[in-house]
Amino acid sequence: MIPVMHLDADVRGILESLPDLAGYGAAAPMLPAACYTSPEFFEFERRHVFTRSWICVGRQEQIPAPGDYLTPKIGDEPLLVVRREDGSIGAMSAVCQHRGQVIATEPGSAGRAFRCPLHFWRYDLEGSLVAATRIDDDAIHDCLRDTVRLPVVRLENWHGFLFVTLDEDAAPLGPGLAKLEPFWEGYEDADLVAVPPTMSDTPLPWNWKIHAENFTDAYHPEFVHVGTHDFAPSIHPDGGVEITPMTAGDNAIVRTVPLLRPDGGMMEDGWGPEAEFPAIETLSAEQRSHVTFAMIPPGMTIIFAPGAVSYQLIGAIGVEATLASNDRVTAGGWLLPRSTFEAEDFEERAAAVRAGGKKIWVQDIPVNLGVQSGKKSRFAPDGRHYMPLETTLEQFNAWLLRMYHAAWKAIA
Ligand code: FES
Ligand SMILES: [Fe+2]
Repeated sequence: MIPVMHLDADVRGILESLPDLAGYGAAAPMLPAACYTSPEFFEFERRHVFTRSWICVGRQEQIPAPGDYLTPKIGDEPLLVVRREDGSIGAMSAVCQHRGQVIATEPGSAGRAFRCPLHFWRYDLEGSLVAATRIDDDAIHDCLRDTVRLPVVRLENWHGFLFVTLDEDAAPLGPGLAKLEPFWEGYEDADLVAVPPTMSDTPLPWNWKIHAENFTDAYHPEFVHVGTHDFAPSIHPDGGVEITPMTAGDNAIVRTVPLLRPDGGMMEDGWGPEAEFPAIETLSAEQRSHVTFAMIPPGMTIIFAPGAVSYQLIGAIGVEATLASNDRVTAGGWLLPRSTFEAEDFEERAAAVRAGGKKIWVQDIPVNLGVQSGKKSRFAPDGRHYMPLETTLEQFNAWLLRMYHAAWKAIA
């Protein structure tokens, strides 16, 4: 159940100025600048869009043993994502059903049961109440145990990535990501090891959509990333970027670019021929000569490169405050063959990959600041001038439009 809020007049005005949904399954015009600058609109997104989306909260390897849990927060909802006794993974509310204490806010291990810190009620790993304290009457205790449980939240495990949604009616995650399946081919035959990232705790001073657009924009690398991205060009005489078509049910925005030589990847100076993470032998020749950038809005990006899958989690905490976990700001966010991970020089190679990623990142910072700043201008453009290489941005607009309209309809 999603709480209904009074729709702020400014938010209503922005929603009313959005294009109709009809005709925009695959691509949509630029959205009003206020979608990037209005704190009220961000609050609408936080409470009504993110809560209706599938959000990646981590990897299954982060909770290997029964009782291990993560503590994501979606919108205002603190959650527990836990490995149960039978090895399956489930999600539920972290709010104790006695008086509403949040049971845990940091990841950890609960053993066989969660214990609420306020009055020590205990819940098993499925969320059922197993013990309340100081109740002498067995009948009352039994009744509580039969009726009290932590509300269940939907979770899907997609290639080891754990996604949750608070929307009981959300379409299943898997079909919305079907267009990414071909890119997984061969990776999971390589005995992958997950190196989860750390979420940065320093907010980036721009809107989460600007962060996502920067990731998915195939037009800017040749200008902004001179020297670091030339090896993975969007334009190439033998065929440049390929943008996977978008349909109305898609939850992914995908582009694939060629590498100038097979088996290239991230080096200390950015994309280059001598990848620090060696190419994965189970990949096809096609995969070993391309890199695919996929955005899974609103909270995740993933890159399929010849030597690694790398991913980033994005957490929006304010209209101009975005947290990111990636191998550019923090560390990790990789799926790597065990042979890569266990190599003696792994730490040096990982440091070089981070350095390369950071060089790209440092080039992106001023342009993200510039775009955020431009959104506040009375002269902010209305987006009539998208170029062909910006199809992914129009696809992202279509996704946003769909989510905004759905949220608006649900609370109107
Ligand atoms: S609020 Fe959790 S036991 Fe009382
Ligand atoms: Fe960039």
